[in-house]
Amino acid sequence: MAIPTSRAKEAAEISVNADECNACGLCVNICGDLSLKMENGVARKSETAIFGCIGCGHCMAVCPTGAIEIHGREISPADIFDLPAKESAATYEQVISLFERRRSIRTFKDQDVEAEVIEKILKAAKTAPMGLPPSDVHVMVLKGKEQTRAFAKDFCDYLETMKWFVSGWFLTLMRPFWGKANDEMFKGFVRPLFKIYPGKMRENINVVNYDAPLLMYFYGSPYTDPADPIIAATYAMTAAESLGLGTCMLGAVHPLIQHGSKARKFREDHGIKFPGREGLFVAIGYPAVKFKKGIRRTFASDQ
Ligand SMILES: Cc1cc2nc3c(=O)[nH]c(=O)nc-3n(C[C@H](O)[C@H](O)[C@H](O)COP(=O)(O)O)c2cc1C
Repeated sequence: MAIPTSRAKEAAEISVNADECNACGLCVNICGDLSLKMENGVARKSETAIFGCIGCGHCMAVCPTGAIEIHGREISPADIFDLPAKESAATYEQVISLFERRRSIRTFKDQDVEAEVIEKILKAAKTAPMGLPPSDVHVMVLKGKEQTRAFAKDFCDYLETMKWFVSGWFLTLMRPFWGKANDEMFKGFVRPLFKIYPGKMRENINVVNYDAPLLMYFYGSPYTDPADPIIAATYAMTAAESLGLGTCMLGAVHPLIQHGSKARKFREDHGIKFPGREGLFVAIGYPAVKFKKGIRRTFASDQ
C-alpha cells in the first residue's frame, strides 16, 4: 500500500523513456524512496521502493533530458516549469530585511486586498514544502471585512455555548490526562479568551480577527502532518509582507473548533472540510500602523 493522504491512496507511476535517458544516474541518487535503479546503462523502476513513488517529482525536475514522467498523486509532466533565474532570487539581505521589518499587525486600513494580490499570496503558499505530496493543506479564504467580522461573530456565539470547556470541574477532570502545561494554558490563556472574545464583540470590537480585510485559514485533513498547514501559512504571511501587506497569525480559533458536535456544526457552517491536528489563521490587510523600530527576538535555547 502506498502512503495515504486525503487526496491520494495509490503510489504514482514512474516511466522512463530509455531512448532519452543519458545514464547520468541523477534521478537514482535523488530518489529518497529508492524507486529507481540503473540497469544496463538506463534508469529504470526498481523493485526496492520503500513506500512506492510519493510523487515528489524530484526525478523529473533533476533529469537533464526530460526522460522521466511521473503520473498520479496529483502530479504529471505538465507540472514542470522553468526555474526563475538564480540572479532573480531574493538575497539573504533582502530576506532578513523583510523578516526584521515584519511586526504582527492588528489594525488595518479600510481597504480590500485586490484579487490579483490574493492570488499571488496563494501561489506563494502553494510552493511550501509538504510532509507528503500531494499537499493535504486546505485553505479557507474570507475576503472583505464584512466576511471576517461575520466569521468572528459566529465564533463568539459558538464560544458562548462552550463555556463548560473551561469550567473548573472540566479542567480538574482533564488535568491528569492532559498534564500540567495544558492545565496552566487553559487557566491562564484559554479561559480568559472565552470571556474576552465575546465580551469585546458585544462592545463591537473584534479581537478574534481584528476585522482584517482578508483572512486565510490553513488546515489539514486527519492524514496531514500537523506542520504542513503551519508552513503554508508562514509562506502566505511572508508573501503578503513582500507585497506591502501587514499580517497577524491567529492561533486561538483552530484548536477550539475541533472537538464535539457544536464544533462540527461550526465547521460545516463555514465550509471547513476537516477537523485536523493543526491549523492556523492569517489575518492580512494594508497596515494602519507604522513601526519605527524592530524588536530583537531570542530562542528559548539561546544563552
Ligand atoms: C502560532 C501563532 C499564533 C498566534 N495567535 C495570535 C492570536 O490568536 N491573536 C493575536 O492577536 N496574535 C496572535 N499571534 C501573534 C503573536 O502574538 C505575535 O507574533 C507575537 O506577539 C510577537 O509579535 P511579532 O509577530 O510582532 O513579532 C500569533 C502568532 C503565532 C506565531
